[in-house]
Amino acid sequence: MIASCGISLTVNGEHVEALVPPRLNLADFLREHLHLTGTHVGCEHGVCGACTIRLNGDIVRGCLILAVQASGAVVETIEGLSDSGEIADLQVAFRERNALQCGYCTPGMLVTAQDLLRQCPAPDRERIREHLSGNYCRCTGYEAIVDAVEVTARARLEPAR
Ligand code: FES
Ligand code: FES
Repeated sequence: MIASCGISLTVNGEHVEALVPPRLNLADFLREHLHLTGTHVGCEHGVCGACTIRLNGDIVRGCLILAVQASGAVVETIEGLSDSGEIADLQVAFRERNALQCGYCTPGMLVTAQDLLRQCPAPDRERIREHLSGNYCRCTGYEAIVDAVEVTARARLEPAR
């Protein structure tokens, strides 16, 4: 039986090496080994979207990927996106629009929303809803979240003054 496997990856710009159990998922690795607890874990079955992160530039569910499968990859979490300022405007919009209550879904929601705005700078509300449809929120009713994403998209398109 293999007790642990060596992995090597980049997380939020930092090189990381670790020994991990073969069945440890990436979300748990980020939380438990790297203390990046902004990646939340809800269902652990790929349903709720709370564990959404970027892997090699694409959003994925961290609970559905083994840490060993991410060896060699570039991983970005909500901490990385937040620290770089990449989603600062989205975060402000979420706060100003009351797009979060308990906040459990919020990191995954922000990572997913930013993914949409990178692909589609001017999404309509239908497109926003569709892109966020894999991220569950039990608190807000979604309307305020869609508002926050829409207002951010509009602001990004305004010419800089
Ligand atoms: Fe990963 Fe729910 S915890 S999708
Ligand atoms: Fe509570 Fe979304 S704000 S689950």
